[in-house]
Amino acid sequence: MLDVEKIRNDFPILSRKVNGKPLVYLDNAATSQTPKQVIDAIVEYYSNYNSNIHRGVHTLSQEATDAYERSRENLQKHFNAKHSHEIIFTSGTTHSINLVANGFIPFLTNEDEILVSEMEHHSNIVPWQMLCEKTGAKLKVIPMTEDGELDLNSYTNLLSSNTELVFVNHISNTLGTINPIEEIIEKAHKNSAAVLIDGAQACPHVVPDVQSLDVDFYVTSAHKMCGPTGIGMLYGKEEWLKKLPPYQGGGEMIEEVTFEKSTYADLPHKFEAGTPNICGGIAFGAAIDYMNSIGFENIAAYENEILIYASQELRKIDGLRIYGTAKHKTSVISFNLEGIHPYDVGTILDKMGIAVRTGHHCTQPIMDYYNIPGTVRASFSFYNTKQEVDLLVNAVKKAKRMLS
Ligand code: ALA
Repeated sequence: MLDVEKIRNDFPILSRKVNGKPLVYLDNAATSQTPKQVIDAIVEYYSNYNSNIHRGVHTLSQEATDAYERSRENLQKHFNAKHSHEIIFTSGTTHSINLVANGFIPFLTNEDEILVSEMEHHSNIVPWQMLCEKTGAKLKVIPMTEDGELDLNSYTNLLSSNTELVFVNHISNTLGTINPIEEIIEKAHKNSAAVLIDGAQACPHVVPDVQSLDVDFYVTSAHKMCGPTGIGMLYGKEEWLKKLPPYQGGGEMIEEVTFEKSTYADLPHKFEAGTPNICGGIAFGAAIDYMNSIGFENIAAYENEILIYASQELRKIDGLRIYGTAKHKTSVISFNLEGIHPYDVGTILDKMGIAVRTGHHCTQPIMDYYNIPGTVRASFSFYNTKQEVDLLVNAVKKAKRMLS
């Protein structure tokens, strides 16, 4: 299926040592590692055609503009958007969400309701709370179940003629749950509500087809899928992006400026004020090319094997509890050892060269649900191996012995 040893050679960082031990990188849900194909695209940009875009007649500027716009088309193709101008480059998922939240200020009143799920990342909660504060709209919460699945009956009951917007993640960063977004979108649309899907955790594992999902907004970040930090995407249906006001004012997003009035540029420039992250945009395209060269079906099948193996081996440890046991989940395992603080486990794992995330993972409502301060989270990518799972399991056992 996957030649993982060969793939690992693409990632220079995977051969480094941490605390004298070979790095075992299991914090992929926080950020993925970068293959040399993407690093090369960054080096090539700064070595050969670093220049500002959309503004110069000189060769470098044209080369940079072409590469940046080719990347936009690459994203359009990958996510199957109808138009390339429906792809807006942002600094990341958080920026994309804030852009949409800000855009809805003129359209909401205190009669309106917004639904978010209990398993959202703070970045898909706080901007909507801010929107509610500004408009008087009410925020309602779609509850989750003990397994870490969304309670779809409650969702159906919460939907009403007052529901204007629904926000749900495609995959939970803390629990790994793959949410049934097709059903969520269909039900929202039956109530004339628009839907934004936070795809930050999904895009490293699956390819969302925005047209067949019929989703209104889909947002993600490059750094979760082998690209650099500081660049992300907002997909929005053309009709919505035309309707929403710009988020930031500045150069590049205007058509004409006078002191009396300014008019805005067409999509996508209306939402890309100022000099963008040009190199990041180009590298985002290179990351998508890289992942497609591995193949998302291969990635999903391999990561599922790793998930099953790691879950089974971790469960053998007495007193270890896994949070998030949804029927459909991806290669993210949050767990705790009974009576031991996750931070202590994470610190000992680091001493053994193993990188995991500990804490609330920017999802405090999930922690409140389980009544815990945090978890240890191991998140696996297609370049991780079963040997690394064994190293993790042995290290957790050792941490347990040391801390009990
Ligand atoms: N959202 C990222 C995570 O889950 C940072 O770790």
